[in-house]
Amino acid sequence: MEKATMSDTARLEINGQEVELPLIVGSENEVGIDISQLRAKTGAVTVDVGFKNTGSTTSSITYLDGEKGILRHRGYSIEDLAENASFLEVAYLIINGHLPNAEEYADWDTQIRHHTLVNEDMANIFKAWPTGSHPMGQLTALISSLSSFYPDSLDPHRSEDEQHRTIRRLIAKMPTIVAMLMKKAKGHPLIYPNNDLDYVSNFLNMTFKNVTEDYEIDPVFVEAMNKLLILHADHEQNCSASTVRIVGSSHSNLYACISAGIAALWGPLHGGANQKVIEMLEGIKADGGDASKFIAKAKDKNDPFRLMGFGHRVYKNYDPRARIIKKSCDDILNKMGINDPILEIAKQLEETALADPYFVERKLFPNVDFYSGIIYRAMGFPMEMFTVLFAMGRLPGWIAQWKEMRDQNQPIGRPRQIYTGETNREFVIMENR
Ligand code: ACO
Repeated sequence: MEKATMSDTARLEINGQEVELPLIVGSENEVGIDISQLRAKTGAVTVDVGFKNTGSTTSSITYLDGEKGILRHRGYSIEDLAENASFLEVAYLIINGHLPNAEEYADWDTQIRHHTLVNEDMANIFKAWPTGSHPMGQLTALISSLSSFYPDSLDPHRSEDEQHRTIRRLIAKMPTIVAMLMKKAKGHPLIYPNNDLDYVSNFLNMTFKNVTEDYEIDPVFVEAMNKLLILHADHEQNCSASTVRIVGSSHSNLYACISAGIAALWGPLHGGANQKVIEMLEGIKADGGDASKFIAKAKDKNDPFRLMGFGHRVYKNYDPRARIIKKSCDDILNKMGINDPILEIAKQLEETALADPYFVERKLFPNVDFYSGIIYRAMGFPMEMFTVLFAMGRLPGWIAQWKEMRDQNQPIGRPRQIYTGETNREFVIMENR
């Protein structure tokens, strides 16, 4: 393939026939080969299991350079956003494409504050679940069930205003639902939203306040939570975002699409890794704290163990989100006066891995999930809630990806395959088999 600056097509020869395929060049000079006419022209399709080389769309939401460790949303660096913005501001940016001015933000904030309540009947759904069920399973069901309470969302051709109402409802109700999960797990009465509070403070109040006592919202918690939510807000065409897009491409309602995204996120190779990291670090601690033993396990191809929170499909450099979280982890634990021994184990594990040729050659670095759980735990969240918190942060990203796909009127997502099974054979009746 020639560089896009020299040519605007790629040439492919197949069965002696040459086809020219147009190149698509992004605003950061990323180059893609447009194969949309390939099958029509040649009869062949492409195969790329796991989509390691396949761009599924053009997108103007998030730019990621995994080799350089760059992450930007709508052009703004993740470092700037995490340092200077509120989560609600970043959510607005990601969904609408620009930073809100004061008036836009006030309107957005007010709208979100006034959609925080969930229907009382939602609390009944919890009664059907056995105690101790994983909150991610509950979250997928609760978010999908919002379509029952708001059946207008089932119409794929609603007006833009109605679509925006669904978006606001989702952003506003997510913290309420997540806090309900925490309370139900403890068997405690629910704390209702307080619309005088900002988004993150309201979430913390619903989560940690007890009906029997006053609760003082700690600004250190607010800052930490805000930052963590921002750091998870979007990550372009990852497993869950691609799921949201593909489910949405069949014109499923937005609640169902987000529920599908949550299901994709749950897996330990994706967002579920944040829970697995703490389980792993606890396992290392219980085993005497020798990180090198676990490094050896991770390198052993006969051992299914992987270093959780390490490696990434796209980052072949330090994940910029992990860098920010690692620093926050030190700051927050210091401010809270917490000395968690697993933080030291995590650092030792990272240091040992980054000096080991196995990890160096494969360009495996800590990802966003490596240090986040340590902060969540210090704040008082149980491990099962970690991926739920990731989902709360990722919500604006999923919404933006879905919206972009629908705004571009993209066709239903339906990959091809190369069939490798039996060819035509005659049916044999049971007695003769
Ligand atoms: N521990 C040990 N070896 C690893 C790890 C790891 N965490 N990650 C990758 N490798 C090795 C693989 O065994 C493979 O080695 P090989 O070339 O000798 O076969 C090589 O590195 C490349 O890994 P792949 O699995 O092919 O990379 P892929 O892009 O398919 O997977 C993934 C990326 C799933 C994130 C992987 O690195 C992993 O399983 N990490 C642990 C789980 C995790 O932390 N997930 C969270 C990711 S971030 C997020 O989704 C929010």
